[in-house]
Order: sequence, then structure tokens, then C-alpha cells
Amino acid sequence: MLLNQKIIKEEENKFLNDSNNSLLFELINNKFENTEQIKLKHKKTLLLNADVLEENLFDKEYFDLIVTSPPYNVDIQYNSHKDDLTYEEYLEFSEAWMRNCLRWTKQQGRFCLNIPLDKNKGGQKSVGADLTALAQKVGWNYHSTIIWNEGNISRRTAWGSWLSAAAPYVIAPVELIVVLFKGEWKKTTGSKISDISKDDFMKWTNGLWTFNGESKKRIGHPAPFPIELPYRCIKLFSYVDDLVLDPFAGSGTTLIAANNTNRYSIGLEIDIKYCELAKNRIINETEMLF
Ligand SMILES: C[S@@+](CC[C@H](N)C(=O)[O-])C[C@H]1O[C@@H](n2cnc3c(N)ncnc32)[C@H](O)[C@@H]1O
Repeated sequence: MLLNQKIIKEEENKFLNDSNNSLLFELINNKFENTEQIKLKHKKTLLLNADVLEENLFDKEYFDLIVTSPPYNVDIQYNSHKDDLTYEEYLEFSEAWMRNCLRWTKQQGRFCLNIPLDKNKGGQKSVGADLTALAQKVGWNYHSTIIWNEGNISRRTAWGSWLSAAAPYVIAPVELIVVLFKGEWKKTTGSKISDISKDDFMKWTNGLWTFNGESKKRIGHPAPFPIELPYRCIKLFSYVDDLVLDPFAGSGTTLIAANNTNRYSIGLEIDIKYCELAKNRIINETEMLF
């Protein structure tokens, strides 16, 4: 057996022997046993090759926290997803997946939604405001918005009208992390074990986060976010052993952050090649906590 396969097998056994894994067990045994959709069972993580639009994917309220960055509809060349919908189609897609996620989230569950502030490719659109309104329309409650300062002005491709008031473009080098919740904000369920330091708590409850974006080339995915983003959301908004979902798992960043902070996690990814990429990253980048 090749070394990599041996590690995968050992980790799969550990995963199955972890009796705390009851929710994931239930999912695997009742629903996903023997399905081709399971691409990885590793430590506390399950990776599924699945479509978030499939509303019956989960039949219960499983998740404590969702951290995700959906496609932005800015014509990124994903393998399996069409990223140049009309704006109306994009809003319909967004409404459908956010509705599913609400259905699959526990009462008191939280939702950290990483989206752009606005969009200027193919017409100016208030994406951040529109998706925040749609999330509330489907039943999510609004809590707050974190501004992620990427410190990156590489998106500046056009000035509109140079040194002229005729039609200048204004672009903010920031993205949003909209924080929403189901039912009530105060969390009374779960292990009640928080593992955030005083320093981090004080820094991160200031809603202006500054850190760099991730390199597409380094990760091998067209739109990865930096691990710092899900790491902060997970430490701030969930307890140890909570179950985290990323419905647009991409290269698996959220799942790595969840594993390395001792949370369970499930990732959905529609593209089989990105599932392979996520699988390799998860195996190589999760710390040995057990
Ligand atoms: C912005 S990327 C997420 C990147 C991820 N945060 C990371 O760090 O790698 C969006 C991902 O959603 C996937 N995707 C698009 N439509 C999907 C769907 N309907 N269900 C599941 N995944 C989907 C794309 O293939 C892409 O990998």
C-alpha cells in the first residue's frame, strides 16, 4: 500500500472509532453509506462531492456554524460552475442555497457569509446589500458585518474616467463577512468550551479585520480565501466540537481550519477536481491533534 493510501486508511479508521462523531456517523450510516459522494473521511471531517442546491441532502438541522464564500458571479473560470449568470439568476441561485443552509442549521446556529461589498464587472451592483437582504428574506436573522480589509488594490483594472468627473470608478479593497443566525443569537447549546485567547477576542470583536488574500497559484484553485478567515470565524462564533459546514468547500480551507481548531466539519463541493485538491490539502495541512 502506498504511504498516502495508508495514511488515508488509518485516518478513516480513527474517524470511525471516534465515538464523539455521532452526528457524522448518523449521516454516513443513514444517508451516505456506500455513496460515491463521500470523497474523504478524515479526523473530524467529511468531504462530499455534492450540490448545495440539492435540498434533501440533509434531512435534519445538523450544523452549528456555516462559514463560506460562494461564487461571486464575476466570470471566474470554475471547472463546473457557471460564474456569469445574469444578476437576477445569481440572486435566485443565492436565495436557493441560503434557504437550504437555513433548513440544515440548528437553532442558535450561526452563518458567516463572505461576499463582495459590490461588483463593477458587467454593471455596478450592490451585491453585499442584496445578498444580506436575501438572507433575511429566507429567514436568517442579521447580527453584524465584519469588514475584511484585504489591502489589495489589484482589482483596480479601470479608472472609469481618468482625472475627470465624467464617470470615475470608486473601488473599496474590502470584502464583507456578514454574520447571521437562526432563531436566537445567544448560544446555549454545544460543549460550551471556547478556546479563544483574550487578545484574539479583543482584536476580532473589532469588526475591521486586516489580513492578505490567498494566492490562487499557491493553492491551485481560482478563488480560495485565506485560512485566517474561517479560523477567526470558527474560534469566535463556535464551541470546541461544534459541527461546521462549508457548502462551497473549494480547496477545503474551512475544513482545515475546523480540524485544526478541534471542530467537526462537512464540506460540499460540486467539482470533482476541487474535491481531490481539498482532499490532498486536508490530509497534508491538518495538524495531528489526537
Ligand atoms: C469561491 S469558491 C470557494 C473557495 C473556498 N473558500 C476555498 O478557500 O478554497 C466557490 C466554490 O463553490 C463551488 N460550487 C459552485 N457551485 C456549487 C454548488 N451548487 N454546490 C457546491 N459547490 C459549488 C465551486 O466549484 C468553487 O470551488
